[in-house]
Amino acid sequence: MKTIHSLKEMQEYTALQRAEGKTVGLVPTMGALHEGHLSLIHAARKENDRVVVSIFVNPTQFGVNEDFDQYPRDLETDSKLAEKAGADIIFNPEAKDMYPTDISTSIKMGSIAEGLCGRYRPGHFDGVAIVVNKLFNLVNPHRAYFGQKDAQQVQVIRQMVQDLNMEVEIVSCPIIRESDGLAMSSRNIYLSEDERDSARLLNQALEEGRTFIEKGHRDPEELRQLIQKLLQSDPRLQVQYIEIVHPSTLQPLQFLQKPVMIALAVHIGKTRLIDNIIIEE
Ligand code: PAF
Repeated sequence: MKTIHSLKEMQEYTALQRAEGKTVGLVPTMGALHEGHLSLIHAARKENDRVVVSIFVNPTQFGVNEDFDQYPRDLETDSKLAEKAGADIIFNPEAKDMYPTDISTSIKMGSIAEGLCGRYRPGHFDGVAIVVNKLFNLVNPHRAYFGQKDAQQVQVIRQMVQDLNMEVEIVSCPIIRESDGLAMSSRNIYLSEDERDSARLLNQALEEGRTFIEKGHRDPEELRQLIQKLLQSDPRLQVQYIEIVHPSTLQPLQFLQKPVMIALAVHIGKTRLIDNIIIEE
């Protein structure tokens, strides 16, 4: 496996692969790889001749009081994990090359980025959109793989690809969970033992929500209150939002008519966790 830091070298790599008729799959990450990322690499490995894993902690998607400085960085461990999972290339660009001082272009995502996390993290999805756009231009993949845990991110990227007529297939892969249901996330390592214990409740609450819908209830507000009550039963959890939306448009539902996505964000101590489930038709 090879590590590429240079933007030009990355572009030349894919140009060569494409000239030889090979397909390229990209798994964009910020590092701190866990089983969730590895499942994306496995999916990319199955569907492409070459697999590129990008590792770049993107400054433009962090708000001023967020964890950019604290975000875990360990290129050596990540490279070993990525190689074992089937990556051919680690693309690890430098911030000064990705964002030279004279950069002047930005992306402003519209309504798809306004609800859910977008309401509480202003500018976050604009930052995701610009970096993913740049990664697509640098890696020029046939397919790109994202985790369904970041459900709004997936829809934002799909929207950008559609709006800007980009020729890349977006593949969304299922959430990978710990044995007690906690969705895997690079931020789980911030949790203390007690907080980690409380974090189980997120998935439990979502599963209660699924049961409520499967029983035929129709009122999203009743569902929201049920989940809120469950989460509030643990004083360590501070609910930021619980939203009941259509999984593609992310618009709030008037009735519980499938497909339904229940998405939530919760603070546990200093850590913010998100999770969601989709109840399919
Ligand atoms: O999901 C992530 O890790 C990041 O938001 C992404 C897509 C790599 C962009 O920085």
